[in-house]
Amino acid sequence: MAIRTILKMGDPRLLEPAHPVDIELITSTPVQEVIDDLLHTMHAANGAGLAAPQIGVGQQIVVFGFDHNPRYPDAEPVPKTILINPVISILSDLEEEDWEGCLSVPGMRAKVPRYTHIRYQGFDRQGTVIDRTVKDFHARVVQHECDHLIGKLFPMRVKDFRHFGFTDVLFPNLRDSSVID
Ligand code: NI
Repeated sequence: MAIRTILKMGDPRLLEPAHPVDIELITSTPVQEVIDDLLHTMHAANGAGLAAPQIGVGQQIVVFGFDHNPRYPDAEPVPKTILINPVISILSDLEEEDWEGCLSVPGMRAKVPRYTHIRYQGFDRQGTVIDRTVKDFHARVVQHECDHLIGKLFPMRVKDFRHFGFTDVLFPNLRDSSVID
């Protein structure tokens, strides 16, 4: 287990689509080590989520969830989840804009439009099926993390660049300078 370096925007590895994990290999040591490293690295950075490409691993693995996150003090809790080979279905055309940040885009936040009601499916670290229907911030976190698996960072989703800026300027009272992961 290790705390890994988080790649920053500009690194071409963040733009590459990630490969699905062979279901038979989910419980193998290499995959379990990637999961442990993701969890350690996310916790060390107070992140709400982290995707494997952010530590330079091109596999479809994301981790997310928290009870309370100092980077998102007002956010509703999201269950701690390890999600492999995720598939998202959009359940409503309704989108909402809200603030996001990213550990790969340190010090910046933007209002990003996301679908408010989704279903996501995939596998946990034991290879058990995950199938959830979620809304709002939970749905936002999942869309943000899964975007990392198709090479998309939140700035690529911004529609109104008047709502894009430095965290310490936008949120001067937020102690952590660096909001989703
Ligand atoms: Ni991110």
